[in-house]
This record gives sequence, structure tokens and C-alpha cells, in this order.
Amino acid sequence: MSVRHFLTLRDLSRDELGYLIQRAIELKTMLRNGQRHEVLRGRTLGMIFEKASTRTRVSFEVAMTQFGGSSIFLSPRDTQLGRGEPIEDSARVMSRMVDAVMIRTFAHSTVETFAAHSSVPVINALTDDFHPCQLLADIQTYVEHRGSIQGKRVVWVGDGNNMCNSYINAARQFDFELVISSPEGFDPRADLVTENSDRVRIERDVQAAVEGAHLVVTDVWASMGQEEEQAQRVQAFSQYQVSPALMDRADKQALFMHCLPAHRGEEVSLDMLDDPRAVVWDEAENRLHAQKALLEFLLIGPTG
Ligand code: CP
Ligand code: NVA
Repeated sequence: MSVRHFLTLRDLSRDELGYLIQRAIELKTMLRNGQRHEVLRGRTLGMIFEKASTRTRVSFEVAMTQFGGSSIFLSPRDTQLGRGEPIEDSARVMSRMVDAVMIRTFAHSTVETFAAHSSVPVINALTDDFHPCQLLADIQTYVEHRGSIQGKRVVWVGDGNNMCNSYINAARQFDFELVISSPEGFDPRADLVTENSDRVRIERDVQAAVEGAHLVVTDVWASMGQEEEQAQRVQAFSQYQVSPALMDRADKQALFMHCLPAHRGEEVSLDMLDDPRAVVWDEAENRLHAQKALLEFLLIGPTG
């Protein structure tokens, strides 16, 4: 069978994604019980970071350590990638030595090009367009707290960015309704909205958007690479802050998520992350468990 990559949530079937979420929960329990599971002994994950990271780097490195394998952190500053070696050549060379590659970069086409020339699985660890690993952790977190997300109403508040695009893919793959409340000019990818118009809609009025929400999600107003737009974005998004008062308009059982890092006082009020409806620390921890499930699946296949 040809090598499997994880560049977006569309690379796995609904059944495979459902399996990964259950497996992530299982691996978390095994870890809590002190059960060793060193299934990747002797295997190596190459980790290419062209943007900053805390959660993604730590979770992938710890995942490989817990599996008995190892990881190599590669930044453009000290590899030939930063000196113009073609992506195609880097992919051919690296994939002859490591067992999987994780990439965080700018253009989504970079991970596609790398994957096309790689003989080992490639994982998208965030591009300008998508952040699928974060969605595995988010869905795991929802399932742990509230059960299946199928048929629920998820409301995305703020920028139509890489996270928002991934929520559109998730709505399709995990079968939920998605309401996107972003200011005009900051919409997610139009092709994704159109293609999923049976379950995805845009509602500019944020107060109306969150009515009946089972999950409210937001993210920073200026993503990595958009730092110079920060001031203009703070103005454009001023009505789109998530606060406990906004959450009061959602369903009584509603949860709040944010992939982090958060800017308190901008996309979230100063007190939002301390609200009992916020599950952001579980969400961050689940990056580890969800990515362990993903690495095991891509490198070994479904188990159990
Ligand atoms: N949520 C997330 O991907 O965080 P990092 O940028 O810290 O990896
Ligand atoms: N949208 C954010 C997510 C960070 C994890 C960014 O791309 O910077």
C-alpha cells in the first residue's frame, strides 16, 4: 500500500478519524495507568519548523519519547532548507533516513510538495491554510467532556484562518453543523464554504451566531506571518471577543475551546480562559494523545 500522509482531515476517512479519537482516549488512559507502550522503538520523526511553536513541538517530541523513539528538531536557520535547497530534494533525502516527517510552514503547497516526494508519512503541523492536528485534539476533548459531536452545533468566532478552514473539514468528517461568525473580509476559504454549504454557514452577527451553540471556538486575530496587520485586525475584530457573557447565549452545556496561544483582552476577555466552560488546558494536553494515535496509525496501522 502506498504511504499515507496527514495534510488535512480529508486524507483520512470518517471511520479512520473516529478510530483515531477513540485510540487517543485509550492511549491517554494507558499513560495515566503507567502502562508502557514503546511501539516506535528505533523510529525517528523529523520535525521541520518554519514558524514558532510550543504545544506542537513539545507534544510531538514527547509522543516519540513515550513511544520509545526519537525526534529531530529542524529549523530553517540551521538546515539547508533555509539556504534554498529545494523542498523536493529535502523530502527525498530526509525520507531515506527518518520514519515520518512533521512540517510547520507557511504555504500549504510546501507540505504537498514535500509529501509528493517523500517515501515516508508527512504530517501537517500547521500551514497558512490548515491545522489538522489541532482538530484531532479538539474533537477528542469534546468527546471526553460531552460525548459524540455528531449533529452538534459548533460556532467559530473571529478570523476565517487555518483553524477555521480545518473546522470546516471537521464539520464534514465528524458530521456536525458549523456556524462561522467572522467580520466581512476575513472569511475562510470560499471553496470550502461552498463545498460544504449543507452544514456550514456564515453569520456576521456574533450574538445571533452563538445561540444554541454546543461548542464555541476562537483563535488569535493575527496569525503567524500576519504580525504587521495586528493593529488593523484589532479594529476589524473588536465585536468578536468571546466572553462569559457571550457564552451565556449558547446552549447550557456549551464548551469553549481555543488552540492557544491566546491574547487575553483581544479574542478572549480577560476572564474567559478561567470560566468553567473553557476546556483549553485539556485541549492542549490532548495534542499529545491525539498525535500519538496519529503517529501509531501512520507508522504501524490500526491496532487492537
Ligand atoms: N496550538 C498550537 O499549535 O500551539 P503552538 O503554536 O504552541 O504549537
Ligand atoms: N491561527 C494561528 C494558530 C496558532 C496555533 C496561527 O496560524 O498563528
